[in-house]
Amino acid sequence: MPNLSVCAVVGGRDFPPGFKFGASTASYQVEGAWNASEKSMSIWDTYVHTYPHKIANNATGDVACDSYNNWKTDIELASKMGLHFYRFSISWPRLLPSGFPDYISKDGKRYYNNLINALLENGIEPVVTIYHFDLPQSLQNLGGWTNPLIADWFANYARVVFSLFGDRVKTWITLNEPITFCDISYNIGNAAPGYTSPGVGSYICNKNAMLAHAKAYRIYEKEFKSKYNGKISISNQVFWIEPHTKSDDKAAEKARQLMAGMIIAKKSKEEGLPYSRLPAFTKEEIKLVKGSYDFLGLNFYTSRTARVAKPGEQIGSWPFYGAPDLDIIVDVKPKWKKSDIWWLYINPEGIRNQLVWFKKEYGDIEILITENGFASYKDDIDDKDRVQYYKEHLEQVIYLH
Ligand SMILES: *[C@@H]1O[C@H](CO)[C@@H](O)[C@H](O)[C@H]1NC(C)=O
Ligand SMILES: *[C@@H]1O[C@H](CO)[C@@H](O)[C@H](O)[C@H]1NC(C)=O
Repeated sequence: MPNLSVCAVVGGRDFPPGFKFGASTASYQVEGAWNASEKSMSIWDTYVHTYPHKIANNATGDVACDSYNNWKTDIELASKMGLHFYRFSISWPRLLPSGFPDYISKDGKRYYNNLINALLENGIEPVVTIYHFDLPQSLQNLGGWTNPLIADWFANYARVVFSLFGDRVKTWITLNEPITFCDISYNIGNAAPGYTSPGVGSYICNKNAMLAHAKAYRIYEKEFKSKYNGKISISNQVFWIEPHTKSDDKAAEKARQLMAGMIIAKKSKEEGLPYSRLPAFTKEEIKLVKGSYDFLGLNFYTSRTARVAKPGEQIGSWPFYGAPDLDIIVDVKPKWKKSDIWWLYINPEGIRNQLVWFKKEYGDIEILITENGFASYKDDIDDKDRVQYYKEHLEQVIYLH
């Protein structure tokens, strides 16, 4: 996060009143305390302990930022930065050690209550992600996101979370980046639990994730909304897709629809079931998913171009795992600079184009940019590249105003 006094005014313009600045984390990234108290194993605990060589320097999240113990200091720092909101996620295996709501961990509950209360005392709004990649290992053993029952497992977990914290948390994200976790977990297999099932496992995962999200949304709507008046949605990582050349408009639009349209419930029935390997939705499922958002959660980092593949041309599926099904080649523009992480090409205009596209596609809905950022291997905290990245992206957002 940049210094807020610097970025509240960008390019000589003020951000409008009501524009909020926040920071975002995930439980596995920051909590540590992987074996504290009653917490059970998550798929990430298993993965990093079973395959240490798959992570750079054999790193683990066993301790991470130790926010499980250092939450007070973290909140003091957030308060000093002037954050309006702090987005964090709840660790499912910390709160429900069996994965099921038969037993709620007292220490798990206490940890999140302390965190939420201290944020509110410091005038920082808690924005809570219910699931950010750390599935209980017990549920992975039963098939994880490829078992259709997971929609109910997740919904039951979400109900526990709403009933424990819903009196104070008013902004909910059900799932973080289902398109991404289905891709990296079941298509490419470079993230926990590490399965490779291109065009099959990832699509099954996506369907189940959509239903899980929608069931949790409906539970909130029916059982909690009138009492607590909160908002609930999903966060997706979206690459802005540009046509590779002037003649590739159609290919680019197809790719955009796959990225965003695959997850977000859309206005018409045709949208939502584009592929035979994506298991078809029943009428009831479509009804369940349709309109299951109160705002749009956008994780934005980077852009790509798309063009139609030439006959016989080899189509890779990364970083766009639907590409083989769409017959498109996904590429980048030479002028886009690369960050230290190889997939993160920098195109600040992309965030503005994406926001404008969403508005055109979904109407004038509220948007929360739930993630945006820059990856660097440098330890230096005087990170000019990152400051530049935020400045350029904020400029693009403020020019919309
Ligand atoms: C938790 O794991 C750490 C290693 O990360 C180990 O040193 C410690 O003994 C473990 N604690 C318990 C209670 O098993
Ligand atoms: C990582 O762990 C493996 C054993 O699993 C060991 O052989 C290797 O030296 C370790 N690498 C680093 C960088 O610590």
